[in-house]
Amino acid sequence: MWRYIAGTIAVGSVTYSLYRYFAGGVCKCPTRLDGLVVVVTGASSGIGKALALELAQRGATIVLACRDIEKGINTKRDILAKLSNKNVKIFVKPLNLASIASIIKFSETLKSEFDEIYALVNNAGIYYHPHTVTEDGYEITFQTNYLGHFILTHNLLGLLKKADHSRVVNVTSQAHKQVNSYDLNAIAKSQTEFRSHSVAYGVTKLALILFTRYLSKKLLNTNIIVNAVDPGTTKTDLLRHSPYTNNQFLYVLQWPIRVLLAKSPCQGAQSLLHCLLTSNRSTGQLYTDCKLTLPSALASDDKLAQDYYELTIEILDNKFNTESEC
Ligand SMILES: NC(=O)c1ccc[n+]([C@@H]2O[C@H](COP(=O)([O-])OP(=O)(O)OC[C@H]3O[C@@H](n4cnc5c(N)ncnc54)[C@H](OP(=O)(O)O)[C@@H]3O)[C@@H](O)[C@H]2O)c1
Repeated sequence: MWRYIAGTIAVGSVTYSLYRYFAGGVCKCPTRLDGLVVVVTGASSGIGKALALELAQRGATIVLACRDIEKGINTKRDILAKLSNKNVKIFVKPLNLASIASIIKFSETLKSEFDEIYALVNNAGIYYHPHTVTEDGYEITFQTNYLGHFILTHNLLGLLKKADHSRVVNVTSQAHKQVNSYDLNAIAKSQTEFRSHSVAYGVTKLALILFTRYLSKKLLNTNIIVNAVDPGTTKTDLLRHSPYTNNQFLYVLQWPIRVLLAKSPCQGAQSLLHCLLTSNRSTGQLYTDCKLTLPSALASDDKLAQDYYELTIEILDNKFNTESEC
């Protein structure tokens, strides 16, 4: 009997310790953002939605940048229902990162409606999306996760420069470590082919860290700091296109991983929140579990960061002008 009780307590303690360990850090910054405007892309679900709620609870004015307006309106309703202060302003605006025309329209709307922006959170992302070429001629994962955010950030720099202090946060992933320089540069040769879904995703996340690194240097003497965040493995809809998630047998097998090792969206949003609230004004860095961490060697290469920035402008082939804002 006692053995049974002791065994149960031991297993329970180990399980709970593992759960706490993988839940990651919690943002403890007391900072409020009353009235400051924060733009969150991909705010209609998962980490973006959880972040928007955390920010609204700190008084920020939120722009939910959503591909699906219905989902955006539902997100706004869900957030407002959880707020004690009903005066917090939440706007839902259409943004499809897989369309340069949509990004330009979204940026123009913001320029006409807001005087300044405190923060831009480049959070939207896709993984395992079926191979598709966007209306602009790019592979869809590459445009949604990286190119779209690259253009959006440049288009909003003017509004970010008008705030006293402002921040750009690029949401990346551990997957950036699985990419080599051949895969990264293969993009230059063919914008529509990747070896696999994980390479497609990893390239975009590496590209976002390189972008963070180079843009932070370009903006060193301005009010804008630029950082990247890896939220950690989180239970969201990110793998909605994956055959492993859609196969019932494999889904059941993955159950312990999801329950024990994956964060809730609120836990996944903590490092993003920390990056937006911390008084530490270091720039060009990578955060995870609410702490600074080191990216891969490739992602830490300043020369590569500059080369890739220039290559991105070449790939965009005059579809937009970075010099107008930067
Ligand atoms: N979950 C993880 O384990 C994990 C780990 C590391 C990094 N991340 C990163 O965290 C970020 C958030 O992902 P999540 O896990 O919260 O997944 P999610 O629940 O699937 O959220 C992704 C968001 O991106 C939006 N989106 C997709 N394509 C878009 C487009 N073309 N234009 C505008 N918005 C678009 C989605 O909109 P719809 O609702 O309309 O589809 C959704 O709101 C992503 O950048 C992801 O790579 C996640």
